[in-house]
Amino acid sequence: MSDQLSLTVDGLTIPQLGFGTWQLEPEDARRMVAEALRIGYRHIDTAWIYKNEAAVGDGIRDSGVAREDIWLTTKIWTAHFERDALLRQAEESAASLGFTPDLLLLHWPKAKPAMSETIAALNEAKNQNLTRSIGVSNFPSGQFREAQRLSPARLVTNQVEYHPYLSLKTLRDTADALGSSITAWSPLAQGKIADDTVIGDIAQARGRTAGQVTLRWLVQQGVIAIPRTARIERAAENFAIWDFELSDDEMARIHALARADGRLGDWLDKDFQWDQD
Ligand SMILES: NC(=O)c1ccc[n+]([C@@H]2O[C@H](COP(=O)([O-])OP(=O)(O)OC[C@H]3O[C@@H](n4cnc5c(N)ncnc54)[C@H](OP(=O)(O)O)[C@@H]3O)[C@@H](O)[C@H]2O)c1
Repeated sequence: MSDQLSLTVDGLTIPQLGFGTWQLEPEDARRMVAEALRIGYRHIDTAWIYKNEAAVGDGIRDSGVAREDIWLTTKIWTAHFERDALLRQAEESAASLGFTPDLLLLHWPKAKPAMSETIAALNEAKNQNLTRSIGVSNFPSGQFREAQRLSPARLVTNQVEYHPYLSLKTLRDTADALGSSITAWSPLAQGKIADDTVIGDIAQARGRTAGQVTLRWLVQQGVIAIPRTARIERAAENFAIWDFELSDDEMARIHALARADGRLGDWLDKDFQWDQD
């Protein structure tokens, strides 16, 4: 789709709406990736730990969409953060997908091995053409800055939980300062936005759905969002966000929903701490 929004980060074009595949069994992942690409999505998110990389690759091939028109992200699991293990997994992921990914992320920060070893290995994976670009996931601001300081290559995104019930102000500012980007996981707060009265009011006034309003709120901030669904009609609903714009007032009303206990998936290593806002 020519009219979907994308970001340019370090010279790379990343479609701002992607399709997430966490918790999709291989059969669903293959079917939904193919359908999402037929609908118009041009960005697919997977991870080694999702155990569906091979199915995602099959879905891409089934879709008939040219590989070079798709942004494909996968992630290095935390058990593979030593140099040799990281390079082995990068090779395994590319083999399972049947494609070199566009982006390879460190899935969660970890105190050991030292970040310097893991970031050096991630750069080595890029230099060996096992990925086109590199980044991180679930890194609080301090670790994000440190990772970029250690990395010769730009970390093109930090993929973190972000939806109307989190502020993320510090991390969004950090991504800007580093010339990076934020990718929002659980962008629909795992479906909870469907019951929100503020989002529901805005959606009703505009003849849209709560999911569409939420995803529009994310992309309009310059954030990348990767919603997941196992249903074709919802994949189409979630993609239909390019022909309307939220007002400043509507954006602010949704930002005001952020709250201290808004986090849904907290698996951060106890050695680290989330930013306060
Ligand atoms: N890096 C990380 O550590 C990390 C962690 C978590 C997730 N992720 C990535 O982010 C992706 C998205 O996150 P997520 O899967 O946790 O959550 P999500 O996309 O916020 O929500 C998915 C849930 O919302 C429902 N849903 C989808 N569209 C909807 C709509 N328009 N209205 C109401 N409900 C809707 C889906 O149900 P149906 O299937 O029934 O439609 C599903 O139960 C993942 O798939 C994965 O790729 C990354």
